[in-house]
Amino acid sequence: MSKTIRIGLIGAGFIGRSHATAYLNQCQFGSEIKPELVVVADPVETAAKALAESHGFARYTSDWREVVKADDVDLVCICTPNNMHCEIAIEAARNGKAINCEKPLGMNGDESEQAARAVKECGVIATCGFNTIKIPVIAYAKEIIDSGELGELVLFRGSYDTDGLADPDAPHAWRMLAKNSLLGSMGDLAAHVLSISQYLLGDITAVTGMTGILYSQRKDSAGNLQPVENDDVAQFLCRYQNGGIGYISSSRVAPGRKQGEVFEAQFTKGIITFNLERMNEINIYRHTDKPVDQGFKTIISAPGHGEYGKFWGGPGIGIGYQDLKTIEERHVLENIVNSTTPAVDFVFAAKIDRVMEAVLESAKTGRWVDVKPVKV
Ligand SMILES: NC(=O)c1ccc[n+]([C@@H]2O[C@H](COP(=O)([O-])OP(=O)(O)OC[C@H]3O[C@@H](n4cnc5c(N)ncnc54)[C@H](O)[C@@H]3O)[C@@H](O)[C@H]2O)c1
Repeated sequence: MSKTIRIGLIGAGFIGRSHATAYLNQCQFGSEIKPELVVVADPVETAAKALAESHGFARYTSDWREVVKADDVDLVCICTPNNMHCEIAIEAARNGKAINCEKPLGMNGDESEQAARAVKECGVIATCGFNTIKIPVIAYAKEIIDSGELGELVLFRGSYDTDGLADPDAPHAWRMLAKNSLLGSMGDLAAHVLSISQYLLGDITAVTGMTGILYSQRKDSAGNLQPVENDDVAQFLCRYQNGGIGYISSSRVAPGRKQGEVFEAQFTKGIITFNLERMNEINIYRHTDKPVDQGFKTIISAPGHGEYGKFWGGPGIGIGYQDLKTIEERHVLENIVNSTTPAVDFVFAAKIDRVMEAVLESAKTGRWVDVKPVKV
């Protein structure tokens, strides 16, 4: 039987457009769950109107409160700057709506924990937009790690570097101001690494880190200098609950790095390596192979890896970044229809915010900081 889920989307910018496209692409998974694009909100009314027209939302508004209160909306998709995420999510939960909120969930761990609590109290389904978890070969890596064949985690090394702001003349944007986000490269980039690390390897319990701002001012669109108030670069050491240790870093000013989300997870009996710029491949070394056979094996995306088979019947063709959003939306729609808890729920997302706030504190104090638990 076909089920229709009615969508209200808030924030018609870059990622709002990607989510809207992902809803339209749900036909990729068959016809039993149909998203209906009902309303899009953005204070820039021309942006809301343009997305409504390009993607077929029935109406648009400049007021997000209309969306969370609308009787004809089942799922609220939050694609605004970070400082608005939790306020909107809490209001959506109070109005009984399911939620898909972009990452990072909140401005800090307390705010995210509050949103996780609201979602629990209101009994609504909520997920957070950590789409790199949805990469098919990452799902494959999880199966291998969970099977235990690689043994115990010893060391995780992960980074996410881009050159989006490597040019000192790149324009100022909302994401560089502390009132909109306390986190710079860490919230935009390292958060994705943290999501994969937490998904594959479990929780981080303590960190010690450093952050830096390379360009402390940038020009806005009118040519006026504005301050840059959050990290261009960040790095930290961490301890995992399971005994492993890690090193995670991010940079938005790394010339030559386009989407350099890379990691190496070293275990007692093998290693897994990954690079987002080659997101349809993963490299695995098994120390249990005969010495003459030992070496890294490159596995290319194939049916059987996560949701890859929903896109292509054969291996090696590959999927792209937009497809990750299609998978993310599919999972939340299935969670709504089947009343199941998302793998990436608000508690999962709040734990990541707890780690990043601990890094900020460590960067100030120069000390190791324990990551606060998430209590809901
Ligand atoms: N998952 C990913 O890969 C990914 C990628 C990019 C951005 N993001 C996240 O998505 C969020 C938005 O980033 P973006 O790159 O789309 O930014 P953007 O600037 O392109 O879009 C943000 C939009 O939100 C609108 N907005 C601002 N205040 C609003 C309000 N009160 N109500 C409704 N709309 C409002 C803006 O007018 C703008 O259209 C951020 O939290 C970011 O971290 C995630």
